[in-house]
Amino acid sequence: MESNALYLVYHGLFLPKVAHSENSLNYFETFVVQDDDIFIISYPKSGTTWMQEIIPLLLNGGDLTPVQTIPNWDRVPWLEETRAAVVMDKLSSPRAIVSHMPYHLMPSTFFSSKAKVVYIARNPKDVLVSSFHYHRMASFLDDPGTFEEFINKFQTGQVLFGKWTDHVKSWKSPDLGDRILYITYEDILFLSQDLRGGIERILCFLGRQLSEDALDHVIEHCQFKNMKHNKMSNYSLVPQEIMDSSKSPFLRKGIAGDWKNHFSPEMEAKFNAAINEEMKGSGIRFSWDEE
Ligand code: A3P
Repeated sequence: MESNALYLVYHGLFLPKVAHSENSLNYFETFVVQDDDIFIISYPKSGTTWMQEIIPLLLNGGDLTPVQTIPNWDRVPWLEETRAAVVMDKLSSPRAIVSHMPYHLMPSTFFSSKAKVVYIARNPKDVLVSSFHYHRMASFLDDPGTFEEFINKFQTGQVLFGKWTDHVKSWKSPDLGDRILYITYEDILFLSQDLRGGIERILCFLGRQLSEDALDHVIEHCQFKNMKHNKMSNYSLVPQEIMDSSKSPFLRKGIAGDWKNHFSPEMEAKFNAAINEEMKGSGIRFSWDEE
């Protein structure tokens, strides 16, 4: 497998060596998916950590113990990362598992299983901004360069897990039928003011129920302002030389539209045109396309 100082190149995708290895990718490829597994799938910086908080709570009736005692990367592990082999056996069924892989690279047993997928997409301009700041704070990622240089890298897929457009299109596969809930970060924020609408949609998709009281607790706990202080989810357990939150916290702003503080009108027009070109013919429209 090709690699450089920081990344493995897997089917053309950059994967940080700090968390991926040939062994972990072999584990990923040969993983036996169970019918009751629940996959959280995302392109990086789309709200993965948020889903790692919400989904376990919806599956366990709103018990806060796991989200307050188990780091997110062990609570809902990334299937392609080295921790997966260490913690997978400790998960109880139904297992909640994360992946950033595009659809076509999923392990073969995924395709023959009935495992459900919660796919979370986010406005690519906000993904890009979030990723830019992430590259500034994480020593295992390459220097983002200027914001304009980073836009170029993002558009050409020279970033984690390749191009955003390829990822969001791949997971729109009709083969998934009703196995997938394709939701956006913005849906969860805006379906109703306090996350209730977004969280209820996920709950319904998972076929679960929560008492009003438990749902209120989950909603309260998963608000950005509260989650930001959860040591098990805000990456403050990671040493500063690996993730330096003084440069940018991992849970940074938690809003939609921060791109407006970063893109000039020219950058935005160019970026939109390039994304629209790549999305042409896909039949996919997102709420932010109407803005
Ligand atoms: P920002 O950098 O824009 O703040 P991922 O987990 O996929 O890496 O995504 C990280 C992004 O999701 C960050 O975006 C982070 O702040 C945001 N996020 C995490 N938890 C959130 C929450 N409870 N509410 C809103 N945004 C959240």
